Amino acid sequence: MKRCHHLCSLLPIWFSLVILFLNSHISNGDNVTYDQRALVINGVRRVLISGSIHYPRSTPEMWPDLIQKAKDGGLDIVETYVFWNLHEPVKGQYEFEGRKDLVKFVKTIAAAGLYVHLRIGPYACAEWNYGGFPVWLHFIPGIKFRTDNEPFKTEMQRFTAKIVDLMKQENLYASQGGPIILSQIENEYGNIDAAYGPAAQRYIKWAASMAVSLDTGVPWVMCQQSDAPDPIINTCNGFYCDQFSPNSNNKPKMWTENWTGWFLSFGGAVPYRPVQDIAFAVARFFQRGGTFQNYYMYHGGTNFGRTAGGPFIATSYDYDAPIDEYGLLNQPKWGHLRDLHRVIKKCEPALVAMDPAYTSLGQNLEAHVYKTSSGACAAFLANINTQDATVKFNGKTYQLPGWSVSILPDCKNVAYNTAQINSQETTSEMRYLSSISEGTTQPLSKLSSSGWSYVKEPVGISKADAFTRNGLVEQINTTADASDYLWYSISINIRGDEPYLVSGAQTLLHVESLGHVLWAFVNGMLVGGGMGSASNVKTSLSQLIILDDGKNTIDLLSATVGLQNYGAFFDLSGAGVTGPVTLSANGVTLDLSSQQWTYQIGLKGEDLSLFVDSDDSDSLWVSDSTLPTNEPLVWYKTQFKAPAGNNPVAIDFTGMGKGEAWINGESIGRFWPNYTASSSNGCSLCSYKGAYSSSKCLKNCGKPSQQLYHVPRSFLQEGANTMVLFEELGGNPTKISFATKQTGSLCAHVSEMHPPQVNSVAYPEMTVSKQKPGPLVRLTCPGPDQIINEIKFASFGNPQGTCGSYSHGECSSTDALTVVQQACVGTNNCSVAVSIKAFGDPCKGVTKSLAIEATCSS
Ligand code: GAL
Repeated sequence: MKRCHHLCSLLPIWFSLVILFLNSHISNGDNVTYDQRALVINGVRRVLISGSIHYPRSTPEMWPDLIQKAKDGGLDIVETYVFWNLHEPVKGQYEFEGRKDLVKFVKTIAAAGLYVHLRIGPYACAEWNYGGFPVWLHFIPGIKFRTDNEPFKTEMQRFTAKIVDLMKQENLYASQGGPIILSQIENEYGNIDAAYGPAAQRYIKWAASMAVSLDTGVPWVMCQQSDAPDPIINTCNGFYCDQFSPNSNNKPKMWTENWTGWFLSFGGAVPYRPVQDIAFAVARFFQRGGTFQNYYMYHGGTNFGRTAGGPFIATSYDYDAPIDEYGLLNQPKWGHLRDLHRVIKKCEPALVAMDPAYTSLGQNLEAHVYKTSSGACAAFLANINTQDATVKFNGKTYQLPGWSVSILPDCKNVAYNTAQINSQETTSEMRYLSSISEGTTQPLSKLSSSGWSYVKEPVGISKADAFTRNGLVEQINTTADASDYLWYSISINIRGDEPYLVSGAQTLLHVESLGHVLWAFVNGMLVGGGMGSASNVKTSLSQLIILDDGKNTIDLLSATVGLQNYGAFFDLSGAGVTGPVTLSANGVTLDLSSQQWTYQIGLKGEDLSLFVDSDDSDSLWVSDSTLPTNEPLVWYKTQFKAPAGNNPVAIDFTGMGKGEAWINGESIGRFWPNYTASSSNGCSLCSYKGAYSSSKCLKNCGKPSQQLYHVPRSFLQEGANTMVLFEELGGNPTKISFATKQTGSLCAHVSEMHPPQVNSVAYPEMTVSKQKPGPLVRLTCPGPDQIINEIKFASFGNPQGTCGSYSHGECSSTDALTVVQQACVGTNNCSVAVSIKAFGDPCKGVTKSLAIEATCSS
């Protein structure tokens, strides 16, 4: 008793000590702040490399691999927007399952040991439907988006708080021991705020203090918002941000969107951005005082379902990102940037210590040096001209290729040049299954001999909930985006006594639409159509038609292709047939615009959920030998076996027109393989030298904008899989095929003049400490179980050409093939020194390079 008395009196103290200990260990919180140089984590300024991966643009099954690849690529942070319309499709009803599982995504990033930048917005832009806003928001009385408007602010605050609370409940903020070190409120409002007048500033002040009041314990940013109120950090978005400076000298220079390519539009060519230019832009940013940089996108992924923004944003959101749409490395982009990150990390102690000291080395030749009193020194030498240059720096001579930056982590030796790629390149290969019917599991009784069954979608009004209105209605206000489709239907009765409308004679039907796609049917027959494009979303139609005696029906099918996601008042841009709609004959025009029209929102097949395999709709599917092809408005269904193996799967929709596709009930997005990019000269060769813009480098001119559509492996199952297509304008589904994507060849072409391969702690096997450092070719098979099985080409001398078509120059070592074969064949990865020591000297006095093409076993 006595002893207890003594000990017991100490209990409360012990107890609080235990709680303190537990708290500090359980929450293990990071303290994230910032100063004029950098984000500061637990008192330490950090150089941080970040990359955007949007969780709903891949699948939870893909996330761990994507995040690991991001980590291996040298990222510290994964950035994502939060997509409001995904999580709250109906006001007050939240969804966080499957691809919408934000908490799981954040935890997966944490499990890989990376940080998170959560851009809550909740306006996102992002080529996402309606910029991420739920369409119901538009119908709140008195609402005005993104301005000082009470109904809007109430909703914005409610959703932002909802997400912050969700993250807090799960202890996901760094302050709670979680991975989130940064959050964004709004998005690029500064680009368009002038259009909102003085209310804009009130709104941005409100948004800032609302965000801060949510007390996340980590800093907030606003991108492209030069008047971002303290303590919010204003950050830069763009292809280059080295010239940017934040609005206070207490804030660090941060780059939230470095566009690694650009997005694809239906009807457009495929944009790409050379990695030498991205590396140049990144190096310039760190050269000139930046400490935080995010790739938008690091993995772009896929706009599944109807999530694509618009108008006309394609289903693929590949973006030419370092990881491709399918989750495979986009090489040499991924590797060359990984090498850059390693070198920048070597410079970190010097970079965070101070602002750089600038010296000019000549016209458009710049040196920036970070040199600390404790001896750390990092230098960046930039050549902003397009021609090569030789410069003198600290008494030494350096060659600087045009439009490049050399990084010297010790202020003496070049460890990296943005224009000299050491990393391997890979070609990818689509392997086609010979036909879709090859994959058919069994000819189910429901399928015809072609392997397909079908349902014809009725032309015009077929649903019980159709309604009439006087005049033409705007589409988005009418459908609330419940479907892409709105039918506009009207009857014209020809009695025979009209002076102008004559049965059997030609009549001109003219229709004006705000977009995006329009099909006109007269008496059930398709007579014409029109479609807008990303640059002009409106469309119109002028078509000669023939009317019959008595009742004639004109049915106009208007389709949206993703709702506008960018610009001032983007929410009000509107779509659909707002007129005029006229008929003209014999010099007289009849305006139908204000007459009574009958409307139908969506398709009958959508109401019947034809895209889901169910007993209810089973009996509707027809399987006879006359599969309708090249006819508008047909639903198609088939069954197939998933392609064998683990390689990513794509469907090639060649042969189809436009529509949407579902695999086992999951929409893989809109398909539109017959919308081709114009063949005019936009695709001529593009050099990485000189300032990049989104239309500078394009490919696939004259070809379909998107022919291949990603089917995530997790959408597929063993045994029978069901595919349903809705074809809007006419196609032949028997022509579509499955393909798998794999690496074709590994290639590298490295010159003796390149800096040495970048060593790294993360890749100990790469350390070549015993060798004299020099450039290396390093090849790695993409799969851990793969080995290099063939060297298709090897040349040391002056080989030419590109991966897949290298050729020997007049100078070439006779040993090259044997040396490379010995070093590489049978291994998963190999390194070969680019040196005369390894190959002998086939041409003295000439700068030589080593080119290799190899393949890996599958
Ligand atoms: C930015 C925007 C991003 C994305 C990007 C283009 O203006 O912030 O959300 O839309 O443009 O891909």
